[in-house]
Amino acid sequence: MNSFWTGWISFIVLGSIFGCAWLLWATRKSQRFHTETEETMGHTFDGIEEYDNPMPKWWLWLFLLTIVFGLVYLALYPGLGSYKGYFGWTSTGQWEDEVAAAKAKYDPIYAELAATPIEELVQNDDALIMGKRLFLNNCAVCHGSAAHGAFGFPNLTDNDWLYGGSPDKIKETITNGRNAAMPAWESIVGVEGVKDLAHYVRSLSGQQNIDANKAEAGAALFQANCVACHGADGKGNHALGAPNLTDGIWLYGGTQQAVEMTLKAGRNGVMPSFKQTLGDERIHLVAAYVYSLSKEEKQ
Ligand code: HEC
Ligand code: HEC
Repeated sequence: MNSFWTGWISFIVLGSIFGCAWLLWATRKSQRFHTETEETMGHTFDGIEEYDNPMPKWWLWLFLLTIVFGLVYLALYPGLGSYKGYFGWTSTGQWEDEVAAAKAKYDPIYAELAATPIEELVQNDDALIMGKRLFLNNCAVCHGSAAHGAFGFPNLTDNDWLYGGSPDKIKETITNGRNAAMPAWESIVGVEGVKDLAHYVRSLSGQQNIDANKAEAGAALFQANCVACHGADGKGNHALGAPNLTDGIWLYGGTQQAVEMTLKAGRNGVMPSFKQTLGDERIHLVAAYVYSLSKEEKQ
């Protein structure tokens, strides 16, 4: 908040308090000398008449009390300008104290866990619970709370990896993020070329409804355009994040229509970097959790 707003709010608060005090003071005469009367204000509404009486004393005292309360509250509470309040308490200060206390408590725990290799960490249930909590807070929005993924978001439990499933590769993915670059092909191979390629790609994972002629034409296009990334056998390349096209696991769907869509427009999946948000030690824990997921599946 800049100083203008601090000044403006101070002005309103103090102005209101002293305004109320002034109002009570200004009307004190009628309060003091005016006692109960039978006189009315001279107007009647539906037979109800208004007496010309001062307000009850207890009410007046309530007003005075609220003014005193307001001033005491202001003196104790931080807020007006750079004034920190009688006790020096601020919400920022309290937050900083809590953060410092949490750091003192958890930093040694994180440091110890971060020094433990991930292969060992997966035996440590406490570490996996911490990793899971980090996953639910940071990753579940995209990968799902059970890490099963969704359209465009890879399943992390199936031991089928775009970028590799070793502890180091998983950490690298989370730390730096990933940007997949699958080019668009329609302008290069044409509308028919896309259809042919899709038939061929689907044949790689043993799908049944394949047009053999189209697949053959597609195979030639594949050798010319796709092997640099997906490999001559279509098994993919972890260094580029190019998926294995032969395993029947699809990031963007494996129907003729879905594969055509992928080829036509290209795909650019983005996994964000967590270097800043989580830091090395927490990345180590969440990586251990992710690593444990595909290990369970394998057993
Ligand atoms: C904004 C959505 C989003 C969030 C949040 C996100 N991811 Fe991802 N993640 C993706 C996408 C998309 C990919 C696939 C990138 C690609 O297509 O190449 C991916 C890929 C991955 C991979 C690589 C999978 C493989 O097969 O190699 C891992 C591991 C991973 N994410 C873990 C995490 C973890 C752990 C977190 C939380 C700290 C997280 N992700 C948060 C979107 C997200
Ligand atoms: C420059 C490297 C590169 C080239 C060349 C390339 N791809 Fe890809 N391809 C990728 C990457 C990276 C992805 C993953 C995209 C993502 O995760 O968003 C991908 C994804 C795909 C997918 C989606 C797989 C799924 O699981 O949904 C298909 C299908 C595919 N490519 C087919 C092809 C075909 C056919 C060609 C040749 C015409 C080709 N690719 C050429 C890098 C490439």
